Amino acid sequence: MLLNTVVQPAYDVYNGMMAVVITRANETSSGANNTSSTLNQELAMEDLQLLILYSALKMILVCGIFFLGLGALITILYYLYDLFFVPYERVKRLGSIGYLNHEAGQPSKKEIANLIRKRRKIGEDLPPVYPNGWFRLVDSLQLKKGEVKEVSAIGQHFAVFRTKTGKANILDAYCPHMGGNLAVGGHVKDECLVCPYHGWVFSAKGECVKIPYSDKVPSFANTKSWPCREVNGAIFVWYHCDGVEPEWELPEISEITNRTYGYVGRIEHHVNTHIQDIPENGSDQAHLGHVHLPHSLAGNELSSQTTSWKKIALHIYEVVCTGSDKDTPHILNFDLSHVLLLFSRWKFMPILFKVYQIGPGCVHLHFNFSMLFKGVYVHTITPTEPLHQVVIHRCYCNWAMPKWFARIILHCLAVQVDRDVMIWNNKTFQPRPKLAKEDKLIAKFRRWFSQFYSENSPRLEMKSDDMLNW
Ligand code: FES
Ligand SMILES: [Fe+2]
Repeated sequence: MLLNTVVQPAYDVYNGMMAVVITRANETSSGANNTSSTLNQELAMEDLQLLILYSALKMILVCGIFFLGLGALITILYYLYDLFFVPYERVKRLGSIGYLNHEAGQPSKKEIANLIRKRRKIGEDLPPVYPNGWFRLVDSLQLKKGEVKEVSAIGQHFAVFRTKTGKANILDAYCPHMGGNLAVGGHVKDECLVCPYHGWVFSAKGECVKIPYSDKVPSFANTKSWPCREVNGAIFVWYHCDGVEPEWELPEISEITNRTYGYVGRIEHHVNTHIQDIPENGSDQAHLGHVHLPHSLAGNELSSQTTSWKKIALHIYEVVCTGSDKDTPHILNFDLSHVLLLFSRWKFMPILFKVYQIGPGCVHLHFNFSMLFKGVYVHTITPTEPLHQVVIHRCYCNWAMPKWFARIILHCLAVQVDRDVMIWNNKTFQPRPKLAKEDKLIAKFRRWFSQFYSENSPRLEMKSDDMLNW
């Protein structure tokens, strides 16, 4: 229909011109002698050629405008689809933030990392690098039925696989037979994982249930199966340095399970710091009024946050730690309030957060914005190496909250986390910080966090020169 509307007028114009030319050619040929007739015929032919050329150009122009319009429409529809239906995804790898080195010109990320490695002081009396608790390995959406993924974290190599019936499981990645990697080349067969090397078959519990070239399966052929939970859109492993079974569980967010909240998207940051530095940030009220004060449009570069236009909108936060409940000492509760102060006068966007720090590697931030828009950020921290953390925020919101709006808020959060990353990537761990009386929540947090370290929790043994091998 649209095609007809555009092409038909051009076609009519072309037909009309052709009729005029043919009539003129006929008239010319009938009323003249041979010489003038030939001349007139040549002139008519020239007119005809000009008109064909003119009509062709016009057709090209009309078609060009049509296809440009169509292209613009498709682009707009694509962006609208992306904005409303595709989950937001933003990943910042190591070296993306906070490794500026102007003296070295434009060094590669590896060169920057090496510079930082040499000049950074790793904290003395660093707490153990892998606390006990639940740690996210893979997002649920990243592991399909019948798929296996290798994940390195907490000084271990895991084969995370989902059986054909959809259950997630975690085994040691290395096969007890000859050390083949079950996650690289291995495959899921029904409810089991098959090693790619000699085809041994392991159940979710780690039992070897079949050796393809042997009648008998010896009992010692088993591999290690790790405690695994799939909850709130991610697959978690339980780690304890002494091999103790799970001492507590991750609470389920019913709004995610029953889909009262829809998935908005995720942001991921790779950070070069000690794990404790990251959740400690929530108790550090003073940094909220400094690092996170300017609005998110001011960007993530901390050294240029002071210019006046960046102060037209300020984030004001207040944190109150309400401690832990008696039967859940592994959860620390906070009330966090936020307001955006415009031109130092008008308060805008009041948001209340109920924050639960759950063990060392997970935080739930339930937000309530104007009583209508509600949702939750599921924030996880996984130490993949002693001083390398993968920090993820996944956002879910209720159906009253427009997706595009939730995406904008998530993007603003990403910029704010970028600022923290710039600090974390370059700081040292202060085992005995000189705290002002207003900082007392940090000391409280450290006492609470120490419950996740045991006597045998692994400590950093490598020198700083051995670290950060990017
Ligand atoms: S190494 Fe896995 S079956 Fe041999
Ligand atoms: Fe922060």
